[in-house]
Amino acid sequence: SGFHTAAKAAGLTYFGSATDNGELTDATYKAFLSDSSVFGQITPGNSMKWDSTEPTQGQFTFTKGDVIADLAAANGQLLRGHTTVWHSQLPNWVTSGNFDNATLTGIMTNHVSKVIGHYAGEVYAWDVVNEVLNDDGTLRESVFFNTIGESYIATAFKTARAADPNAKLYINDFSIEGTGAKSTAMINLVSSLLDQGVPVDGIGIQAHLIVGSVPTTLQENWQAMADLGVEIAITELDIRMTLPATDALLKQQATDYQTVVNACLAVKGCVGITIWDWTDKFSWVPSTFSGQGAALPYDEKFAAKPAVDAILSSL
Ligand code: XIL
Repeated sequence: SGFHTAAKAAGLTYFGSATDNGELTDATYKAFLSDSSVFGQITPGNSMKWDSTEPTQGQFTFTKGDVIADLAAANGQLLRGHTTVWHSQLPNWVTSGNFDNATLTGIMTNHVSKVIGHYAGEVYAWDVVNEVLNDDGTLRESVFFNTIGESYIATAFKTARAADPNAKLYINDFSIEGTGAKSTAMINLVSSLLDQGVPVDGIGIQAHLIVGSVPTTLQENWQAMADLGVEIAITELDIRMTLPATDALLKQQATDYQTVVNACLAVKGCVGITIWDWTDKFSWVPSTFSGQGAALPYDEKFAAKPAVDAILSSL
């Protein structure tokens, strides 16, 4: 069976994939992405980000995001919205506008309201804020933090809840897979937000991992997160290697994918797993991490790598 069918049978809500608009012109790619027995959920890799949705202040463009949302609906797949408040892929008018606190707060709440409001009723979960923490657990000095202070996070969630009361609202980050300073900070942050009545429903764990270096503390860490009473989701899974891919590396990669799937299955509250696209043809890894790649379960030619059977046998 496919990933999603197997994931459902194993108790997860979904197994999904990221995708991007340009990729959909590849008919073979699109057909496989659209098979809801394989992927029961999709995430737009870029087209709901700020630079896509509000490139000019107050002028919202949902054309590309709508293509992904409509595809999910046509395929009977859940949609994860990604992402409203993030320091990256922000238009210059936001980063260089030198806005004061009240003005930037208004800009941020308007953006969250308009984007989440536009997709209200269509989205299972939103990554309301993305990558707000530094690796040492302090809050990242984004334009939002520097101008508004820590309260921008609570404000973003409250605004998101009002815009779509039925979407699960997530805080999403990387390097929170295993235990450590950043994971502890995430747990403390979510705990404090919940104590203040801020509507946080889930923690998104990106999981951009490295073959042979998957943390050994996944289950323990994710359990501690779930113990806060929120959902956990693996939102951007890929496991990269230094190229060229060898049989030994592909075998280790298969084991590493199993480690991630097994940890999610072991934690009640881990609702789903999303791979950050499914074929190496469209992975973000080679353009971001020089000399690395082959991070996804299917190769550039859409052939299954050992990870495919490994994931299925864990599910
Ligand atoms: C990446 C996309 O996959 C790329 O196409 C884009 O050029 C840069 O962003 N963490 C995130 C995602 O939350 O939004 C990023 O996606 C990957 C890292």
